[in-house]
Amino acid sequence: MVVEKIKKLENNQLETFNKEYVNEERWPIVKKMIDQSFPEGNFSFLDIGGGNGIFTDKILAHYPEAVGTLLDNAEVLLEMNKSHPRKKLILSSAENLNDIFNNQNFDVIFFNWVLHHFVAETYWQTRKTQNEILMQAQSILSAKGYISIFENMYVGALFKNLPSHLIFNLTSNKKLAPVTKIFGANTAGCGVCFLSDSTWKQEISKTNLHIVNYEEFPKWKINILRQILLHIGSVRVGHFWLKRG
Ligand SMILES: C[S@@+](CC[C@H](N)C(=O)[O-])C[C@H]1O[C@@H](n2cnc3c(N)ncnc32)[C@H](O)[C@@H]1O
Repeated sequence: MVVEKIKKLENNQLETFNKEYVNEERWPIVKKMIDQSFPEGNFSFLDIGGGNGIFTDKILAHYPEAVGTLLDNAEVLLEMNKSHPRKKLILSSAENLNDIFNNQNFDVIFFNWVLHHFVAETYWQTRKTQNEILMQAQSILSAKGYISIFENMYVGALFKNLPSHLIFNLTSNKKLAPVTKIFGANTAGCGVCFLSDSTWKQEISKTNLHIVNYEEFPKWKINILRQILLHIGSVRVGHFWLKRG
C-alpha cells in the first residue's frame, strides 16, 4: 500500500474550490504560451489538482486536437466533472505521479494553485514534498514538454518568505483552527504553503527546469491587520512557464 504523506482537506473545505480560477484575466497568458509552444495545437496535457475540470474543459474546447488527463485526490471535486471524449479522470494524490505514469509522458503539465496544498507534517517536509513533486512532474514530461504553474505569491514586507512560514504555522495548527477559520483561512487545521516569487524561483533552480516566461498579475488589496500580522508586503498571482533542460 502506498503511504501518502500529503494532508487532505475536509470535503466542506474542498467544495469551496468549485470555481473558475483561470478566469478571463488569467486565460490569455496560458493561451499565449500554448500557442507559442504548440502552434499546431496538438498536445497531451496533465492537469494536476484539476478539481471540477473547468480548466481542463476550457483547454479541450480551445484545442480540438489536445487530449487531457485530470488528476485530483478529492472525489467530491472529481464528481463535478463533465465527461468528455478527450478527457481522462484519475483519483489520486500528486505524490504518486511516477507510479501512475511510469510509461506515459505529457507535453504540458499544469499546476494551477495546487503546489501550495502539498502540505506534510512540518514546514520543511512540505517544501521537500513540493520539490519532489516538481521533480516527478519533470520526469514525465515529453522532450518538447512544458510545466505551467499558477500560484499566489506572498512577498514579505522586509523578509521575503516570512509570510510563507507564518501562514503555514498558523493554518496547520489544529488547536488554532477555530481562530484561523474566523480570519478566513479555508485551510484551517490542515495548512497551506504559499511562497514568495523569489522563493519559487529558487525552488525551480533546484530542478532541471528553466523559466521560459514569468508573468505577474495586479497586487491584491489586503486588510491592514492581516498585512501587519502576516508581515505581508504584497500578494499577487504569478504564472510560470517552464521547460526542461
Ligand atoms: C485551489 S484548488 C485549484 C483547482 C484547479 N486547479 C483550478 O485551478 O481550477 C486546489 C486543487 O488541488 C487539489 N489537490 C490538493 N492536494 C492534492 C494532491 N495531493 N493531489 C492532487 N490534487 C490535490 C484539490 O483537491 C483542488 O482540486
